Amino acid sequence: MPLDESAPSMARGHAAPIGIFDSGLGGLSVLRAIRAQLPHESLLYVADSLHAPYGLRDNEFISERTLAIGEWLVSQGAKALVVACNTATAESIALARGRLAIPIIGVEPGIKPAANQSKSRVAGVLATQVTLRSERFRSLIERYAADCRFLCQPGHGLVEAVERCEIDTAEVRALLASYLEPMLAAGADTLVLGCTHYPFLDAAIRDIAAGRLTLIDTSVAIARQLERVLDANGLRAPADAAAADAAAADVVAADADRQPREPRLYSTGEIAHMRQLASTLLGLAGPVEHIRITSLRRAPERTPSA
Ligand code: DGL
Repeated sequence: MPLDESAPSMARGHAAPIGIFDSGLGGLSVLRAIRAQLPHESLLYVADSLHAPYGLRDNEFISERTLAIGEWLVSQGAKALVVACNTATAESIALARGRLAIPIIGVEPGIKPAANQSKSRVAGVLATQVTLRSERFRSLIERYAADCRFLCQPGHGLVEAVERCEIDTAEVRALLASYLEPMLAAGADTLVLGCTHYPFLDAAIRDIAAGRLTLIDTSVAIARQLERVLDANGLRAPADAAAADAAAADVVAADADRQPREPRLYSTGEIAHMRQLASTLLGLAGPVEHIRITSLRRAPERTPSA
């Protein structure tokens, strides 16, 4: 579910870009929904792939990365920030709202829609360990657990698989099956994708579930929430912004008006995987730029699996 948002907004024009970030490539699933909902907006996307997965990090580290990347996006002129990461939202959105003077939209697992949709009253939740153990998540579950049972499963290894662009290998299927089969055996009819990386595993999940699970992915709801926040703050890009850009680039304006604008993609880590995922799953042909964004604390060495 999208989280609000209202913040004192710095004087940034409606033509300014929207900053989106995730620990890695997962937030591209949110970017995909934002492009569809808001085709006239300019988007800057940062994948902090050098430090993924956040699900293995401590809270202080995640907060520092969120602030450092948020500040970098603000320095690039972002008029709003989408924290397209359940883990970073759970640990650091309150801090980010206190420090960054632009509206901030976060994401959280779709517990409410799952509770609304489940007929069996048993729903599975796949998310990172950090998200599942967070205070925010606990209170979300408490609100909806009265008449619905939630089976919470950390998706160890899944973020790393998506980061390597391994979205439908035998290993990933085996891992997913080991998480989903106990849920199915317990009567789950609904599955919350509580990490923005997981929608990219959608095809493998659907095959394993064979029609027995309704998948809850909140990226479209996040895009709609962003639209409301932009409107409320007078920050929505006018439809003619894309056409003006197209005219400058000698492109037919009518086409430009229909086509979502190409986002600018940045990664702190491996750019080849990001290019591959962006091209295969989003049809984006543009370049990926490598960036270095430092935070106060040096990243500890990564452990092999999440
Ligand atoms: N996409 C992030 C999320 O939604 C993944 C977190 C991680 O890197 O572990 O939580």
